[in-house]
Amino acid sequence: MAEFKVALIPGDGIGEDVTAWAFDIARTAASRHGAELTGVVFPWSCRFYKETGAMMPPDGIETLRAFDAILLGAVGWPDAVPDAVSLHGLLLPIRKAFVQYANMRPHRLLPGVTGPLRSEGFDILCIRENTEGEYSGAGGRVHQGTAAEVAVETAIFTRAGVERILRFAFDMARTRRGILASVTKSNAQKHSMVFWDDITRIVARDYPDVAVSHYHIDAMAARMVMAPESLDVVVASNLFGDILTDLGAAIQGGLGFAASANINPDRSAPSMFEPVHGSAPDIAHLGIANPIAAIWSAAMMLDHLGQSEAAAAVMAAIEATTARGIGTVPGRDRTETIGQAILDALG
Ligand code: IPM
Ligand code: MN
Repeated sequence: MAEFKVALIPGDGIGEDVTAWAFDIARTAASRHGAELTGVVFPWSCRFYKETGAMMPPDGIETLRAFDAILLGAVGWPDAVPDAVSLHGLLLPIRKAFVQYANMRPHRLLPGVTGPLRSEGFDILCIRENTEGEYSGAGGRVHQGTAAEVAVETAIFTRAGVERILRFAFDMARTRRGILASVTKSNAQKHSMVFWDDITRIVARDYPDVAVSHYHIDAMAARMVMAPESLDVVVASNLFGDILTDLGAAIQGGLGFAASANINPDRSAPSMFEPVHGSAPDIAHLGIANPIAAIWSAAMMLDHLGQSEAAAAVMAAIEATTARGIGTVPGRDRTETIGQAILDALG
């Protein structure tokens, strides 16, 4: 029997409400398909920061390295810890340290879910560069607090970083409908974004079977609303991908349905699976968070671990549940009702 060790980091807010459901359902599906998942919970969060002065222990990254995968709920509780501190203390260092350079975010309507658009037949996979670009953390502030203050935040794009995310996206397009949209802003940003476009053209030579188009981020924002069915795989830089995937979440009915996988394609370190929704302090611990985004993310984890049948079983259980109208309307059904219905649907 294949065995996998999963690090569970519920984190903050609704992350604590949904992560156990996601893991339970993944573990149940895995066990029915001949694999055993063992979970170890780490209480790393803003509460942990308040108690210890750090979001995770100094050896936190090394501790996580021993796991096959990480299932994360959400990070952030701005009333207690500034977001820039909590995110740079837990989520962002994990993505970078484990070279999880490909952030995959699927956007499609689940059965029974009504989105805000007229167009319902879209199936988009956003691939977000996840380790560099606008999130590099390079920069600083000088003359702080004076009228002469300067803040600099430098986006860093490396040949290695851009090429690998593009190759990943082309590979993904090959497994789907063979259509890739590369998103930049090369009409305004004449260095990094023209560079990205250049690398896209170079990599495209190795993928004559993939139809690639170039879009500017502003045009892509409009296209995702007006003609989402024309899109298949969309690849973008870290910040652009961040923004487009909240738009993607919106058109798929809301953040409660938006799953994500932070993938280390080389498998040199664990990958991390997390819903896109964040900690949602306004609805935290009320028992009304939709666990579907977290459960879908756990299905992506099973897939990454080579448990494709278990992953498909989880997706089928999610879809059977939403098709019955459970979990389809934000805030209506309880976390427990939705989680239990999906567990039951696993059969
Ligand atoms: C996301 C989130 C994070 C990001 C924040 C919380 C730093 O918005 O995963 O999309 O921007 O990457
Ligand atoms: Mn985001």
